[in-house]
Amino acid sequence: ASAEAQSRFEAVVANEQRVEPRDWMPDAYRATLVRQIAQHAHSEIIGMQPEGNWLTRAPSLRRKAILLAKAQDEAGHGLYLYAAAETLGVDRAELTEKLIDGRQKYSSIFNYPTLTFADVGVIGWLVDGAAICNQVPLCRCSYGPYARAMVRICKEESFHQRQGYELLMTLMAGTEGQRRMVQDAVDRWWWPSLMMFGPPDGASPNSERSMAWRIKRHSNDELRQRFVDMTVPQAEILGVTLPDPALAWNEERGSWDFGEPDWSELMQVIKGQGPCNAQRIDRRRAAHEDGAWVREAASAYAAKHGRKGS
Ligand code: ACO
Repeated sequence: ASAEAQSRFEAVVANEQRVEPRDWMPDAYRATLVRQIAQHAHSEIIGMQPEGNWLTRAPSLRRKAILLAKAQDEAGHGLYLYAAAETLGVDRAELTEKLIDGRQKYSSIFNYPTLTFADVGVIGWLVDGAAICNQVPLCRCSYGPYARAMVRICKEESFHQRQGYELLMTLMAGTEGQRRMVQDAVDRWWWPSLMMFGPPDGASPNSERSMAWRIKRHSNDELRQRFVDMTVPQAEILGVTLPDPALAWNEERGSWDFGEPDWSELMQVIKGQGPCNAQRIDRRRAAHEDGAWVREAASAYAAKHGRKGS
C-alpha cells in the first residue's frame, strides 16, 4: 500500500468518518472485521436454536407468535451481517463452511440449554440485554457496512429485550412455582451472560488494536460493568436475586461491584466443550445439508433468469 493510502485510512478513522468497502484498508483491519462480523453472524444463526426448542411448546398462541417473530428477526440479523462480511471480499458459503468445521467461533452463550419456558424470558432480558450493551457502540464502528447493519439490529434487539422482561413480569405475577422457575433460570443464565462480553481486558488479545481502529469503542470489562449497572435495578423490580454474593453498590465508583466470572468455564465453552456445543453444530450442519436443494434451485433459477434477461 502506498503511504498516502495508509495515511488516508488513518485520517478517516481519526476523524470519525467511515471506511467503505472500496477504500484501501490494512489487511489486518480487514481480517479483524471478517473475524468479528462472521462470528457475530454465526451467533445470530446458532442463537435461533436454544429458543427454537420452545417454539412448539410455548404456553399460548400469543407467546408462540412472539417467539416465532423473534427467531425470524435473528435469521434476518444473521443475513444482514453475512452481507456486511461479504463487502470485505469473503463469501457467505465459505463462512458457513468455517462455522460448521469449527474454524470460526460463535458466542459462548448459545451453548447452554433452555430447560424451561422461563429461559425464553431470561434470554430476552439478560442475553439480549447484554447483546444491546455490546452492540450499541458498534453502531459507531469505523467500518460503514457493519455500523449501519448494527443500527437496525439494535432496534430489534431492544424489542427482544422488552419482550423477555414482559414475559418474566408475567411469570413473577403468577404462582409460586412460576416464580421459582424464573429464579432458577436467572441463576443459570447470569454468569454465562457476563461471559458474553469476552475475557477480562488483561486476557483480551484483540481489544487494544480493535479499539485503536475504532471497531470496538469500549473494552470488554467496561461493557460488562455497564451491563451489571443496568441490570441490577431491573432485577430488583422483577423481584429476583442475582446469584452473586459479591454484588454491592460502590458509592465511590458510582457502580456495582460484582464477583469474578469463572473464566475457565468461558475458555472451555469457547474451545467447544460447553454443554451444547456438539449439538448446536450438528444441527447447523444438518440444516445446511438439508437445505442444499434450496440453494441449488435458487442458483438454477438465477441462471435461467439471467439468460432470459440477456
Ligand atoms: N464467545 C465466544 N468467543 C469469544 C467470546 C464469547 N463470549 N468472547 C471472546 N471470544 C473469543 C474472541 O472471538 C477471540 O477469539 P478469536 O481471536 O479466535 O476470534 C478470543 O475469544 C479473545 O477475545 P477478545 O480478544 O476479547 O476478542 P474480541 O476483541 O473480538 O472481543 C467480543 C470479543 C466482545 C465478543 C467482540 O468480538 C464483539 O463485540 N463482537 C460482536 C458482538 C457479537 O458477536 N455478539 C454475539 C452474541 S450476541 C447475539 O448474537 C444476540
